[in-house]
Amino acid sequence: MLNIWQQLKKPIWCLAPMFGATDSAFRQLLAEIGKPDLMFTEFTNVQALFSPDETAIQQLAFTDKEQPLIAQIWGLDPELFEAAADFIAAAGFAGIDINMACPVKAVVKKGAGGALIDNPSLAGQMIQAALKGAAGRIPVSVKTRLGNQTIVTETWLKFLLNFDLAAISVHCRTTKALSLGPTHWEEISKIVRLRNQLKSKTLIIGNGDIFSREIARQRIRETKVDGVMIGRGVFADPYIFNPQKIINNQSKTQKLKLLKKHLDIYQKTWGKTRSYHPLKRFFKIYVNGFHGAMSLRVKLMNTRSITAARAIIDE
Ligand SMILES: Cc1cc2nc3c(=O)[nH]c(=O)nc-3n(C[C@H](O)[C@H](O)[C@H](O)COP(=O)(O)O)c2cc1C
Repeated sequence: MLNIWQQLKKPIWCLAPMFGATDSAFRQLLAEIGKPDLMFTEFTNVQALFSPDETAIQQLAFTDKEQPLIAQIWGLDPELFEAAADFIAAAGFAGIDINMACPVKAVVKKGAGGALIDNPSLAGQMIQAALKGAAGRIPVSVKTRLGNQTIVTETWLKFLLNFDLAAISVHCRTTKALSLGPTHWEEISKIVRLRNQLKSKTLIIGNGDIFSREIARQRIRETKVDGVMIGRGVFADPYIFNPQKIINNQSKTQKLKLLKKHLDIYQKTWGKTRSYHPLKRFFKIYVNGFHGAMSLRVKLMNTRSITAARAIIDE
C-alpha cells in the first residue's frame, strides 16, 4: 500500500475538512498559492453517497492538483463504511478519514460524529469496516476530539490506537465545547506520549485555533506532534501554508486579483452544477484590510452572478 502519511516529511501541514468551505475550487486555489502537505474533502455522508441523489458524489469531485487528497466520510452504518471505503479507494483518493468529531446537533443527535466517542463499540466496527473496504489500497485515519461531554483522552485514544490507523487528527476540545473556549494542547502532548509508550506507528495530528504559521510551529515544538491541521486559520490567511507570504502584506490590487482567481476557479469547477451564492462566504477573506473594503464587500454581496462580481471588481 502507498501510505501517504508515512511518505510525507514531518511535521505534516494539513488543511482541515470544512463542510461548505473546503470544496474542490477552494482546494485548487490553495494548491496554487500555498499548498498544504495534505488536504481533506468536506465530510460526506455514507448513506448519501449511495443514494440516487448525485449531490454527495459531486461533493467528492477533485482534480489532480489537489492530491494528495483524503476523502472524509461520516455516518453510522458499518456496512456502508465498507462500501464507501471501497468506492473511495477506487476513485483515486490518497486516503480515507472517518469523522468522529462533528459537533453539529443534527449529526450528534443521531449518535454520529463526535457522539461516537461515547460509543466505542460502534466506532470500532466502523473503523474495521473501513479497513476492510479499503483492503490495504489506501490508509485509513480518524478525526476526533478529546471526549464527547468531558475530556476522556486516555481511554478514548488508547482505544483508537488499537486499530491499524495511519493517523489520528485530534481537535483538542470536547464535542460539547464546539469550537468555543480554550483548546487543550497539553492533551495532545499526552496523546503523543501515549502513542510512543504503546509503540504505535499511528501519526498524531493536532488541531484547534491555529491562526498563523508561528502558532503552528510553537504547537509542534511544544507537543512533538507529527503534524498540524488548520481550519479557520485559512480564512484569516489563505497563504497560511505558504512560508513566503501573508495576506496582511498584500496590496488591495493583489487581494482583488486573488478573489478574481477564486471566482475563475469556482466557475470552471462548479459553473454548471452549483449556484453562485455559496461563494459569497469567501469575499471577506480578500475584501478586507484596505480603504473602501467594507463598501466594496456590500456591493459584492448584492451581486447575483460571477460576471456581475467581476464587473464590480474591475470598476
Ligand atoms: C465551516 C466549518 C465546517 C466544518 N466542517 C467539517 C467537516 O466537514 N469535517 C470535519 O471533520 N470537521 C469540520 N469542521 C471542523 C474543522 O475541521 C476543525 O476541526 C475545527 O474548525 C477546529 O480547527 P480550527 O480551529 O483550525 O478551525 C468544520 C469547521 C468549520 C468552521
